[in-house]
Amino acid sequence: MTFDLTEEQLLIRDTARDFAATALKPGVIERDEKQQFPTEQVKQLGELGFMGMMTSPTYNGAGLDTISYVLVMEELSKVDASTSVVVSVNNSLVCYGLEQFGTDFQKEKYLKPLAEGTKIGAFCLSEPEAGSDATSQHTRAEDKGDHYLINGTKNWITNGNSASIYLVIAQTHADSGHRGINAFILEKGMEGFIVGPKENKLGIRGSDTHSLLFTDVKVPKENRIGEDGFGFKFAMKVLEGGRIGIAAQALGIASGAFELATAYAKERKTFGKPIAEHQAIQFKLADMYTQIEAARLLCLKAAWLKDQGLPYAEAAATAKLFASEVAMKVTVEAVQIHGGYGFVKEYHVERLMRDAKITQIYEGTSEIQRLVISRAILKT
Ligand code: CAA
Ligand code: FAD
Repeated sequence: MTFDLTEEQLLIRDTARDFAATALKPGVIERDEKQQFPTEQVKQLGELGFMGMMTSPTYNGAGLDTISYVLVMEELSKVDASTSVVVSVNNSLVCYGLEQFGTDFQKEKYLKPLAEGTKIGAFCLSEPEAGSDATSQHTRAEDKGDHYLINGTKNWITNGNSASIYLVIAQTHADSGHRGINAFILEKGMEGFIVGPKENKLGIRGSDTHSLLFTDVKVPKENRIGEDGFGFKFAMKVLEGGRIGIAAQALGIASGAFELATAYAKERKTFGKPIAEHQAIQFKLADMYTQIEAARLLCLKAAWLKDQGLPYAEAAATAKLFASEVAMKVTVEAVQIHGGYGFVKEYHVERLMRDAKITQIYEGTSEIQRLVISRAILKT
């Protein structure tokens, strides 16, 4: 066993760190306040190869490993989780899903621009009445021979408006339950496809979250992913890797807050000495550090398993559960260490605290991760 990163992995991590400092940090507070999508930053991330990091160069991706992906997600999320969620969805849900399960035609037409970052993707599973209970899909995809007609509503879709390629899960054979669900590739601009208004959110406010409405959207059969009825398994397989991305996002939010809190504790003086010299603050920092170290190891383990071609669903759920809980605890403590200054925007930790909350909710809530983990432990 080795804990060393390769030269290449270190270089990629440093590139992401520099990018976060120079391209994400300036303007991050304003983008959060104005709910402004990081259009220019996402374009630059595409140029760096970070929008299709794990996609093969055959499809214009960077062909890197999942460990590198975790390193990049951590660095970006330390500074701007609104941008890192765009990276996560595009990489681990959309590009990965198409590369693993798409046809040559689908890879050529859709995966290439997504992996280059010239187009942005969205993953559309959740509905107004189907979040955790993802098998109870109400969106319908009626088989019409050479095409499907899609009707229904998707909720909470990340990149909802900024995307142009959407992977949409819908029910075709209602009496077959989850085995009658399909996954489709939709394009913005298809007749009957409407992007709903933007959600006004607590955190990750720079990312655009929308509902999507489909009325008789005609989707060619060649845009179905996999065999008839493969859609639910497709969603589950894709989410296994997605959860590594969000675990790394949570890790980054926690480590970003920890770095800010440590620096502040060394500067801020009370009772004649830096607060870092009060044992209560030292112990807070020690606990934060320990939790972050453990979260990082879980993220890297899940990524390593995936890179080895070994099963990683349970490891991804464990990493996501733990890292997201750590993100919440650590960011609350980081605000506390900053005192009143932690409560205002200039010091960044209040935003990180707001951003941390979503990591316990999306890509499967903490309760759903516990369900996945306990089923794996008990093999039920
Ligand atoms: N790989 C392959 N197949 C899987 C699987 C996996 N990891 N997990 C489940 N399945 C299969 C099962 O084998 C079963 O198929 P068979 O009956 O043919 O064997 C089928 O899927 C149904 O599985 P369950 O019986 O376990 O279904 P369930 O209803 O009890 O629970 C669940 C499934 C794990 C709770 C699932 O519904 C789930 O993950 N819910 C959370 C949804 C979620 O994570 N949404 C995220 C949306 S994307 C997002 O949020 C993006 C973002 O924010 C940025
Ligand atoms: P519910 O499923 O209604 O859950 C409500 C509460 O009950 C939660 O605490 C939950 O953990 C708990 N609960 C539910 N079932 C159980 C159970 N069996 N045991 C114990 N507790 C349970 N979805 C997409 O498809 N694509 C996206 O890009 C996307 N992006 C998102 C971005 C944002 C900002 C947000 C807020 C959501 C996004 N989602 C996306 C949706 C997200 O995945 C769901 O919100 C999440 O899966 C939870 O579903 P729900 O909101 O319907 O909550």
